[in-house]
Amino acid sequence: MKIGIIGSGYVGLVTGTCFAHLGNEVICIDNDVKKIDMLEKGQIPIYEPGLKEMIRKNVKEKRLTFSSSIAQAVKHAEVLFICVNTPPKESGEADLSFVEHVCQDIARYMTSYRLIVEKSTVPVQTGEWIQKTIKENRKAGVAFDVASNPEFLREGSAIHDFLNPDRVVLGVSSPKAEKTLRKLYEPLKAPILITDIKSAELIKHASNSFLATKISFINAVSRICDIVGADIEQVAQGMGLDPRIGASFLKAGIGFGGFCFPKDLSAFLRMSEKAGVRFGLLNEVLTINEEQKHYFVQRIENHLWNLKGKTIGVLGLAFKPDTDDMRFAPSIPIIESLQGEGVKIRAYDPQAAIKAKAFLKAVTYSRTPYEAARNADALVVLTEWGEFTNLDFKRIKKLMRHPVIFDGRNMFDGGELKKLGFRYYGVGKGEI
Ligand code: UDX
Repeated sequence: MKIGIIGSGYVGLVTGTCFAHLGNEVICIDNDVKKIDMLEKGQIPIYEPGLKEMIRKNVKEKRLTFSSSIAQAVKHAEVLFICVNTPPKESGEADLSFVEHVCQDIARYMTSYRLIVEKSTVPVQTGEWIQKTIKENRKAGVAFDVASNPEFLREGSAIHDFLNPDRVVLGVSSPKAEKTLRKLYEPLKAPILITDIKSAELIKHASNSFLATKISFINAVSRICDIVGADIEQVAQGMGLDPRIGASFLKAGIGFGGFCFPKDLSAFLRMSEKAGVRFGLLNEVLTINEEQKHYFVQRIENHLWNLKGKTIGVLGLAFKPDTDDMRFAPSIPIIESLQGEGVKIRAYDPQAAIKAKAFLKAVTYSRTPYEAARNADALVVLTEWGEFTNLDFKRIKKLMRHPVIFDGRNMFDGGELKKLGFRYYGVGKGEI
């Protein structure tokens, strides 16, 4: 099939590349000419495992091209996916101006039937606005369909998630749109759920908000564990064995971050307020998430006494492992709070250090975890990168001024580290 992807960010780039991988002819568009130049040269603006190789292969085999011209995409493609950014406004509401501009452009360039699919995370009823905008701007008589196909991929495992989805949600309003999208997704052999457009839009916001709720719930329980001397991992395991609850997204830590959960939760909250529905639960989920970062800093302070003049080595900056994404990373407010107390920060991240420079000031970046640990009064784990599991803690202990570890992701075995002579503090492990 001939596909056009409008917006080559995380979702657009992964979607376009995977559709090309499945044998379609894909053109990816972005209005950032520099980004398109980079992509044409085989350079990838984001770190996502496997993406660079897959892009290069599909470009070479002529199934994937890049351009900054929407007109070219509209001419080429039978199906156009809108994957532009929907950033948060000051109020938390999603800013849909990029979606609107893209729709106006698509409408102006259409000369025959096109299927326009919203993939960007948008508030419910955006499909209706897209429909209206295209109708008003198209040439008389040119037919089109609008559909919603929310994307559930996670950063760090985006290609795997795209190619092996738990479900494909297709919000459609015509049999023709359903047939086209079914055909496109057929090779994935995934369960397909056909819904109306508004339900598809809601599925995305409701799913992300529910997952975020699970995380805040377990984080709140983790604080109780600290006070009463229980172990959050055992509690989560015991809860997760109940299939009605499920084991995933019950990992306590320093709160969720990234460009999806915080933004989508705020947008969903504003949307429900606009609809006149009181959904204070979501407010509480956001509040617990904010508190969790302060709680972690507070515990560091409680255990180190005075923070002024101390050096803390930080392991991990990205909002989660296997990505260089720093947007809404919990590491940012945590490091800023520590710096506010006069702490010197020495940080190591396998991929995010370059992007981190735009978000953090006065941080010394280390080339290895050992360099970050040198002469540190404590080591703080903020992202659970796989490579940290192989650290040589005997070496780390010799390097540190004081062997103290605050593990914000519960990634290490505290018992083992204590045997090596460390003071170890996890999250919800019963040590207030
Ligand atoms: C999320 C959704 O999972 C995905 O379906 C959607 O398309 C986009 O938003 P992503 O933001 O890439 O994906 O990452 P995810 O793996 O969901 O993690 C989000 C945040 O929650 C991270 O900061 C992570 O560290 C945190 N998290 C996740 C926890 O603190 N505990 C958990 O149990 C799971």
